[in-house]
Amino acid sequence: MTATESPTTTTSTLLDFRNVQLTYPNGTIALSGVDLTVQRGEFVTVVGPSGCGKSTLLRIASGLESASEGTATVNTTRVGYVFQDPTLLPWRNVRQNVELLAELQWDTQAVRRTKAQQAIDLVGLSGFEKHLPRQLSGGMRMRASLARSLTLDPELFLFDEPFGALDEITREYLNDELLKLFVEQQFAGLFITHSVSEAVYLSTKVIVMSGRPGHIVDGFDVPFPMPRDPDIRYTAEFAALVGEVSHALREGHGA
Ligand SMILES: Nc1ncnc2c1ncn2[C@@H]1O[C@H](COP(=O)(O)OP(=O)(O)OP(=O)(O)O)[C@@H](O)[C@H]1O
Ligand SMILES: [Mg+2]
Repeated sequence: MTATESPTTTTSTLLDFRNVQLTYPNGTIALSGVDLTVQRGEFVTVVGPSGCGKSTLLRIASGLESASEGTATVNTTRVGYVFQDPTLLPWRNVRQNVELLAELQWDTQAVRRTKAQQAIDLVGLSGFEKHLPRQLSGGMRMRASLARSLTLDPELFLFDEPFGALDEITREYLNDELLKLFVEQQFAGLFITHSVSEAVYLSTKVIVMSGRPGHIVDGFDVPFPMPRDPDIRYTAEFAALVGEVSHALREGHGA
């Protein structure tokens, strides 16, 4: 099936978690009573203390884990997933890495090649198709990882701290690139980060989680329009919202 033939979901709610709890086999309760929705057109970012269950939340959304209690519904099969580590195969060049998911879907070589080239162009890696991962910068590796998931033409895109390991300038640059993709490709996003300012800058909504077992303690609609003006970061309104989210995060810590 090519990207253009992939089914488009008609419902506007792409992810719907109701009262989700997850207990790992060793008895660790990672999440408790989580209610969360992601609608088409939304970019939802989750912030919360380390170990509160954010990655667990994404693993449930991607189908790698199942909720122990409650219901976790994802209303699309076109789900992209980008981890903190770019997870590129070191012996494959950029093009071969980006083609990987299309290969696993049994696309023909011509279709794979087209999808991969489109994704490589979208993330700004044109000209680097034949480079191996070790010949790329950290930011470029992350772009390749993004491109690989873009070949799935995702309706729902899950991001687990993808830019956490990058320096601030590269992170801000990639934030802008990601927002451009969000506006152009029209996927819905569920993004995890430790950075409150990154959360506010990227999102239409910021969700604050408590310490483990993680549950949602607060949510903030971000009023700034898309496409977002990079200079918004230096305004008083932006700083005020970052302050409010940070405050909720401190209050919720250990709650
Ligand atoms: N496979 C597992 N088996 C048992 N416990 C686990 C497993 N994976 C995670 N945990 C525990 O579940 C809790 C939540 O882990 P998770 O990785 O979801 O946290 P996180 O919010 O993503 O943390 P960080 O911000 O550090 O990435 C932690 O206490 C962790 O030790
Ligand atoms: Mg994590």
